[in-house]
Amino acid sequence: MIIRQMTINDYEEVLSLWERTPGIGISEADTRDNMYRFLQRNPCLNMVCQMDNRIVGTILCGSDGRRGYIYHTAVEREYRLRGIALELVKEVLKRLRVLGIDKCHLFVFADNKVGQDFWKAVGWQRRDDLLIFSKRSGES
Ligand SMILES: CC(C)(COP(=O)(O)OP(=O)(O)OC[C@H]1O[C@@H](n2cnc3c(N)ncnc32)[C@H](O)[C@@H]1OP(=O)(O)O)[C@@H](O)C(=O)NCCC(=O)NCCS
Repeated sequence: MIIRQMTINDYEEVLSLWERTPGIGISEADTRDNMYRFLQRNPCLNMVCQMDNRIVGTILCGSDGRRGYIYHTAVEREYRLRGIALELVKEVLKRLRVLGIDKCHLFVFADNKVGQDFWKAVGWQRRDDLLIFSKRSGES
């Protein structure tokens, strides 16, 4: 198992994994140009796992300099329950610590039981005291 930083050259393979993974929400934030910008802004926080010469796992993490935010934790179905996602999460947390960021948040769709069960199993605390509010920057 090789865990390494994601580069924009991984984009097509990574997008294809996300597109066939239920629980991963793809949006205009995931276009090649937007991913390029995200990787430039967070060069050391985005990881892939390679096995058998293919990308079988991903994790994105962005930081605003204060907190980390994880997105798109995905493992190819036939490679699940081998500890790949946990290794990806550990690597990202280690890298956040090096950057001096001591806490990380993530978003899970309310109907994504697989995702919620995973985060619970690896020790993440579900927050019931917060809600997400969203708005498009072009709207007044
Ligand atoms: C969630 C996901 C990334 C987990 O990947 P994975 O590589 O199978 O997870 P790991 O093997 O690292 O699991 C680590 C631990 O979590 C547990 N775990 C993993 N998935 C679980 C699940 N669905 N329910 C309960 N426990 C789970 C494992 O049993 C393991 O615990 P253990 O060491 O005590 O056995 C993978 O199932 C996936 O890609 N799901 C679809 C996408 C998704 O929902 N992502 C989360 C978006 S927020």
